Amino acid sequence: MGATLEIRDLTLRFGGVTALDRLRLSLAPGTVLGLAGPNGSGKSSLINVLTGHYRGEGSILLDSEQIDHLAAPERVRLGMTRTFQAPRTYRRMSVLENLDAACHAFRPLLRNRSVRRCETKEMHAQLERFGLGHLAHALPDQLTPVEQRLLELARAHVTGARLLLLDEPAAGTTEAEAHHLRQVMAEHVLPGRTAILIEHRLDFLRALCSELVVLQAGRMLAQGAPDDVFAKAEVRETLMGEPVHA
Ligand SMILES: Nc1ncnc2c1ncn2[C@@H]1O[C@H](COP(=O)(O)OP(=O)(O)OP(=O)(O)O)[C@@H](O)[C@H]1O
Ligand SMILES: [Mg+2]
Repeated sequence: MGATLEIRDLTLRFGGVTALDRLRLSLAPGTVLGLAGPNGSGKSSLINVLTGHYRGEGSILLDSEQIDHLAAPERVRLGMTRTFQAPRTYRRMSVLENLDAACHAFRPLLRNRSVRRCETKEMHAQLERFGLGHLAHALPDQLTPVEQRLLELARAHVTGARLLLLDEPAAGTTEAEAHHLRQVMAEHVLPGRTAILIEHRLDFLRALCSELVVLQAGRMLAQGAPDDVFAKAEVRETLMGEPVHA
């Protein structure tokens, strides 16, 4: 089977800043690719170029189909969805309505019609799975930061998209909350999906990812199995601030 996502020589510039520098990547189906790197290394930029929010140079192929000329909604139609570094929800809609809206707006667009319909009963069941059942009628502003993160994950999940792009889904949560998010992702969100997961928490990446890429200044510093990547001296220096011994 071919790659779900293929990135060739992707470059993104903001004036004099090169956010992504001739990046090449290939994601086999079912891969959960962790993306780590210091602040400003280009992690969110990569997601923004993939979704069509930013335009870069180079090519992007989704299931062998070139998509870099497509507008953002067209890419959604092909089965790509994302979460944001700062959670984005519909503030005037209840938690249940948020989930419903994500499902109704997205699923009919998908080419793959085998995905289930968006029945209210199913949406309730999904909320229970994400631990949000008791908050179905609350507004997003009434949720704690971790509940907002869970809602964003639930929304991405119910779309049925085959490629998930998750930008720091545990940002702004405590250790215990991050652990809970990790479990929910491992159980409900990631199985059977191809995903890119940006995280600063290394235990998160180690537990959830089958591959890891470390970016530095828009370039690939290291790539491989998480344990192998974390063992590299240059990665330890960049991510953990450990001095490199000659
Ligand atoms: N909209 C923008 N306009 C100008 N420069 C931008 C924009 N978005 C990102 N950049 C720049 O591109 C570079 C990469 O930023 P990006 O947000 O991708 O980093 P990141 O790895 O996601 O960092 P963080 O861990 O802080 O979220 C940075 O130098 C940033 O200042
Ligand atoms: Mg970012």
